[in-house]
Amino acid sequence: MAVHVLNHPLIQHKLAVLRNEKTPVKEFREVVGEIAGLMCYEATRNLPTKEVTVKTPVATAKCRMLSGKKLAIVPVLRAGLGMVDGMVSLIPSAKIGHIGLYRDPETHKPVEYYCKLPEDIGSRVVFLVDPMLATGGSAVAAINFLKERGCRNIVMMNIIGCPEGIKAVEEAHPDVEVYLAACDEKLNAHAYIVPGLGDAGDRIFGTK
Ligand code: PRP
Ligand code: URA
Repeated sequence: MAVHVLNHPLIQHKLAVLRNEKTPVKEFREVVGEIAGLMCYEATRNLPTKEVTVKTPVATAKCRMLSGKKLAIVPVLRAGLGMVDGMVSLIPSAKIGHIGLYRDPETHKPVEYYCKLPEDIGSRVVFLVDPMLATGGSAVAAINFLKERGCRNIVMMNIIGCPEGIKAVEEAHPDVEVYLAACDEKLNAHAYIVPGLGDAGDRIFGTK
């Protein structure tokens, strides 16, 4: 499985802001969106393009535009919602699906509560977005949903991952490419990423 950790200085700078426990909700939410945009730029680097001819005010120019499969963005609710606007600002014609999962606080296993995807999702390149890849249970379940609906071209984008989560996705879905802003050290006893940034959903929506 291909795992890309994006060491771009802007991404790393913004990640330091997210990690800081003193960062207020408004800034946290904004910076999640900004990082998602920067990660989107990197994760779309290998999309196919085709040559087109464009008439400028001066002459004709041979240019390149996106070609190939259409795109979809699928956030894992709730925290993945925070990454959608940053992605949409760069790929505005992408369709958006939603997968609702939460981790059971006792078992840390994902529980499904919602799934609504574009009808033609199986023919699209899907960018699955969720700020945190912890045990990997949510990611594996979300990818299962997508594959059950015919998706074969899935790119996973997480802001922070860890070895446990990467291993889980790698074992279940070795064909999925993963983009991270950081791969942290480990999980703690509550399956939170260490050092991580805490609970991404609570920090984006201000629920704690
Ligand atoms: C968080 C996060 C991921 C999941 C990661 O969501 O946004 O979806 O945990 O953990 P895992 O890799 O161990 O499955 P959470 O369950 O807290 O739900 P929320 O987004 O609604 O807050
Ligand atoms: N979910 C989060 O929001 N944070 C973690 O560290 C792990 C799971």
